[in-house]
Amino acid sequence: MLSVAEAVAVMRRELGESPKAEHSLLVGRIMRELARRFGEDGELWETVGILHDIDLPATSADLSRHGLVAAEMLGESLPPEGLRAIAAHDHRAGLPLLSRLDRSLRGADALALLGQRIPLPELERFAEQGDGALVALQAALGPQRAHLGEMVARYAEAECLTLADLVEAVRRAG
Ligand SMILES: [Fe+2]
Ligand SMILES: [Fe+2]
Repeated sequence: MLSVAEAVAVMRRELGESPKAEHSLLVGRIMRELARRFGEDGELWETVGILHDIDLPATSADLSRHGLVAAEMLGESLPPEGLRAIAAHDHRAGLPLLSRLDRSLRGADALALLGQRIPLPELERFAEQGDGALVALQAALGPQRAHLGEMVARYAEAECLTLADLVEAVRRAG
């Protein structure tokens, strides 16, 4: 399996010094935090996060192949569960989320995008609202970004996490 450093090198080869590369590193760090929380393999989870978007230069015109092509590109560099999570991370590829790793990669992807759009102090203020936090966040996101709020809410529900737990993971991921 690729180490985190090797994964960064592969990702940089494909995405260079781009906003997508920075997004990939952030998703990796959020995945590391989620793995810690669940007692999962942090090295694998971070590596999967770093590599999840490496096919974008090849698939941006046809996102129904996004993730699937990345998994093919990686071949045997990752264990099957890591390849599966990458193949399934974008809903447009149409694969169901079967494992906690699958769900966490889609959740971390949405959280990273959310963190780019809403400053952390503001996210923390939403998180402080307790039970109503996810509903308040979704309302504030508006229709164009509603899908992000939905993905985060669905992930939180599936893994019995609160918005505060998820915002904490984003904060620790820096
Ligand atoms: Fe993606
Ligand atoms: Fe992504």
